[in-house]
Amino acid sequence: MTENLVLAPARMTTADIFNSAVASSAISAAWELGALDELAANEKLDVTEFATRNDLDQQATEALFHALASVRIVERSGGAVLRDVNFADVYKAKGFFHWLSRGCAELFANTSSVLPNGNRVGEYYRRDSAAIAVACRDINKNFFDPVFSAVMAPLEFTKVADLGCGSAERLIKVLGWHPTATGLGIDIAGGALRLAQESVDAAGLSYRVSLIQDDATAPRPHPEFTDVDLLTCFLMGHDMWPRDECVASLRKLRAAFPNVKRLLLGDTARTTSLPDTDIPVFTLGFEVAHRMMGVYLPTLEEWSGVFAEGGWRLIRQHLVPLPADSVIFELEPADSAA
Ligand SMILES: C[S@@+](CC[C@H](N)C(=O)[O-])C[C@H]1O[C@@H](n2cnc3c(N)ncnc32)[C@H](O)[C@@H]1O
Repeated sequence: MTENLVLAPARMTTADIFNSAVASSAISAAWELGALDELAANEKLDVTEFATRNDLDQQATEALFHALASVRIVERSGGAVLRDVNFADVYKAKGFFHWLSRGCAELFANTSSVLPNGNRVGEYYRRDSAAIAVACRDINKNFFDPVFSAVMAPLEFTKVADLGCGSAERLIKVLGWHPTATGLGIDIAGGALRLAQESVDAAGLSYRVSLIQDDATAPRPHPEFTDVDLLTCFLMGHDMWPRDECVASLRKLRAAFPNVKRLLLGDTARTTSLPDTDIPVFTLGFEVAHRMMGVYLPTLEEWSGVFAEGGWRLIRQHLVPLPADSVIFELEPADSAA
């Protein structure tokens, strides 16, 4: 009789925990240095040739692959590395590791000085906004974009503004789908905007995209805002919270963009029912980091309860399978004809 047999999950050893922490940084570095992309394309990589071609220290490069091999992302074979059983999943999830090990490295490294109440004033933590933008670009591509492209397909618009635009990848993608539309990227962080400008220039879209440094939760009136008819806001909606501030921000957005027809708000919400020992990738880092930073993360239910008061009507809610409790809310101004 096996129907009622519940297998206890294998217990991680102390060594597993330690090696995973080392491997996490190695994943981010291997991606940044091009090794993960080469392995995804070629299956096999010669370590000495890779180090020489990229002017990397041979010993340190071998160490990087040693760390990846410890958690079976690659398998070392003579002087080469091959994909191992965890490669495909980790390759898809590499943006989460980059967010953690590159974007949030300083925050987590300083955990003990971030917690004391006396230290929690002014800018008491630092993150790397450019690395977070790079990480989010990949997270979007692999997890949010399949849902986003389906939501976008029937929409018509002439000018899109992306709030918290990060790398500007969303604008670039959307303008590729709509060759006559123009775009506006708004971000608070100089590092993200520099990356955005580079990406827009590289895509040859400088003449169709403007970038503005501003707080998208309380945008100042700007002549560029008047003809925006589509707003997108991905992976930063939680920065509008807590609730009263979110309601105020939603109202300000409605007023600042008088001709907007749609707001697509995609974000990851705070989970409420996951057991501590069975948390999917990203969720733990995302929730712990935001609590350390003192940023309130709303649940899906809390999000749903804020739109009407903020002046928006929820048309549809599109669930994104991963990260846990991720969603794209499709909204229209509450005062528009339904
Ligand atoms: C997690 S990243 C997401 C970037 C991009 N939306 C994406 O989907 O890839 C969040 C971005 O929002 C920006 N951001 C955070 N708070 C903001 C605010 N109040 N106003 C404008 N941008 C903000 C950050 O600088 C960062 O570039």
